[in-house]
Amino acid sequence: MRIIGHGVDIVDTARIERMLREHGDRFLLRCFTEAELAYAADKKQRVQHLAGRFAAKEAVMKVIGTGWSQGVAWTDAEVVREPSGKPTVRMHGKGLEFAIAQGIDGWFLSISHIDTHAIASAIGVANEG
Ligand SMILES: CC(C)(COP(=O)(O)OP(=O)(O)OC[C@H]1O[C@@H](n2cnc3c(N)ncnc32)[C@H](O)[C@@H]1OP(=O)(O)O)[C@@H](O)C(=O)NCCC(=O)NCCS
Repeated sequence: MRIIGHGVDIVDTARIERMLREHGDRFLLRCFTEAELAYAADKKQRVQHLAGRFAAKEAVMKVIGTGWSQGVAWTDAEVVREPSGKPTVRMHGKGLEFAIAQGIDGWFLSISHIDTHAIASAIGVANEG
């Protein structure tokens, strides 16, 4: 297994709260998949979970190196959970195309959040052989 790239991002949870307040569902549906929204929906710290996922998406974008131009959607980088709760990344659409072009076929993701901030670190790998 070879590491192709590593990205980190930190998100101010107040920024996510502001986006929710100002844009509501438009913000949610543009940035998060149905499963991501469902996971956060009934949580006490809903904004923290969303902020963690937002940070994860930005971290993934740093790895694939495209930014959000070039047709990559926020929902192209989806945070999915293993049964243990451990998060990983599932790519879709243009984001998946860019990841494949770099040889990335696996991800390691770590998320942490507190009241004020969420942080995520994403590592894209090539599983050779
Ligand atoms: C993982 C763990 C250390 C989180 O620590 P914490 O300080 O409470 O919270 P943090 O904000 O730092 O991290 C939360 C994130 O850890 C990640 N996480 C959860 N379980 C994880 C695991 N088993 N391995 C790696 N990461 C995990 C998630 O991404 C979570 O954020 P999310 O719920 O928004 O997806 C803690 O939940 C733990 O010890 N889990 C062990 C497994 C466990 O107890 N499972 C209970 C479910 S039955």
